[in-house]
Amino acid sequence: MQSVLGAGAAAAVPASLLSGCSVSSKAGTAASTGSPARQFSPSAEITFPKGFFWGAATASYQIEGAWNEDGKGESIWDRFVHTPGRIKNGDNGDVACDSYHRWREDIALLRAMNLTSYRFSLSWPRVQPSGAGAVNAKGVEYYSRLVDALLEARIRPFVTLYHWDLPQALDESGGWLNRDTAARFADYAQAVVQALGDRVTDWMLFNEPSVFTYSGYLEGTHAPGHKSILEFLRATHVVNLAQGEGFRALNATRPGVRVGTAFNMSACEPATGSDEDRLAAERAHAITNVWFIEPALRGRYPQAFTFLPETAMGIKSGDMEKTRAPLDFIGINLYYRTVIAAPGAMERATHTQEWLFPANMGGGHEGPITDIGWEVWPKSLHDIVMRITRDYKRPVIEITENGCAYNDRPDATGTIHDQRRIAYHRDYLAALAQAMSEGADVRGYHAWSLMDNFEWADGFSQRFGLAYVDYKTQKRTIKESGRWYAKVAAENRVTPKSE
Ligand code: FCB
Repeated sequence: MQSVLGAGAAAAVPASLLSGCSVSSKAGTAASTGSPARQFSPSAEITFPKGFFWGAATASYQIEGAWNEDGKGESIWDRFVHTPGRIKNGDNGDVACDSYHRWREDIALLRAMNLTSYRFSLSWPRVQPSGAGAVNAKGVEYYSRLVDALLEARIRPFVTLYHWDLPQALDESGGWLNRDTAARFADYAQAVVQALGDRVTDWMLFNEPSVFTYSGYLEGTHAPGHKSILEFLRATHVVNLAQGEGFRALNATRPGVRVGTAFNMSACEPATGSDEDRLAAERAHAITNVWFIEPALRGRYPQAFTFLPETAMGIKSGDMEKTRAPLDFIGINLYYRTVIAAPGAMERATHTQEWLFPANMGGGHEGPITDIGWEVWPKSLHDIVMRITRDYKRPVIEITENGCAYNDRPDATGTIHDQRRIAYHRDYLAALAQAMSEGADVRGYHAWSLMDNFEWADGFSQRFGLAYVDYKTQKRTIKESGRWYAKVAAENRVTPKSE
């Protein structure tokens, strides 16, 4: 699933937003090179603001392993990967990158890359094995040690509470279809902030709520593997309630914490200039980019559907007050763009889904394609950052994920020459810098990922890391991209390709 807006965004930003911008470029801003995919290749050095966070991101299930150690409960992902046929090549995250035991090596990687922010997630069933009640002391100690070591290395711990590994026990009582899960989530948030909130100040409630509800409840490709549009819609409402409840729980327990969510986003471009395609693109923007932001910031659902099945979604009176959460920042995970066309009248008349949601969404095909099949389109990052800046009165933004899958392997000398990954990050950073120079308040950038890891339904077949992981030995090797990124972080600037 994927958002809207074309080139007009920048022009629509009021002039007052343009003052105080501190991104500077020695020769103007990022320049156009003609090719749409490359239009943000920097032609000159770009300097980021002092104190800008340079980071990398991971997620518990994708790196930790130790799936049943030290009292950890089963998660829906443990159950899903152990079900035959769900994951490419029958892979699973039982061991993954073994970070539960090798976290010191991971911190060494962050240090070697000069990073100042580490976005990682907590495994809910490691903290609360059955999703309710007392915490598992060993699980909490693991995260506590990690946080201490990060702080000692002067790296900000930037913590996601939920990156998809719901306790299996909660799924058995309905998971995200059960309103009670919102209350369980708030209890979990409270327990965690009680344990770590003396040292962790920056939190994300959810990672990509529209992906885990869509892929888990409609597409069926992620845990728990259901396929129902009504379940999907209902799950999104429970997650919106949980976002509100979780926000309040964190703030009540530790006033002064900074709380956001990492939303998956992508610029939604209409396939043609027709009114139908434009309207369809707006629907796509509503469901992909702001379905979990509008309830939080404005207490309402955006107009994605021809009609909102409120009863089927389980929306009760008073709920839209409960979903409110004045988030302290908007986290953006972005990889590509989405191109949207309106379905024809026949399609709308004969398919329930097209009738309810008349927008056919797909990836673009003009830019280079990464190994996972996603188009490289830096403009998408610029456009969505500007749209969010414009629509929500210049909120604080953190880029919580951005990266690419290229499966380059070590050469005879052990070097991993992943020049395409360097080009990807360089161009997306130039696009981001352009948005910042137009007034966006962006505080940090997190590459996905610190190291290669378990890529959900794709198993280990897709490598997104700045560091290579040899899964047989668990040896980590910083790729050429990781070395390049280390220089960017140390110098706080991105230089053109020739340098
Ligand atoms: C995002 C997920 C992250 C990772 C990247 C490639 O959708 O948040 O866990 O899988 O995609």
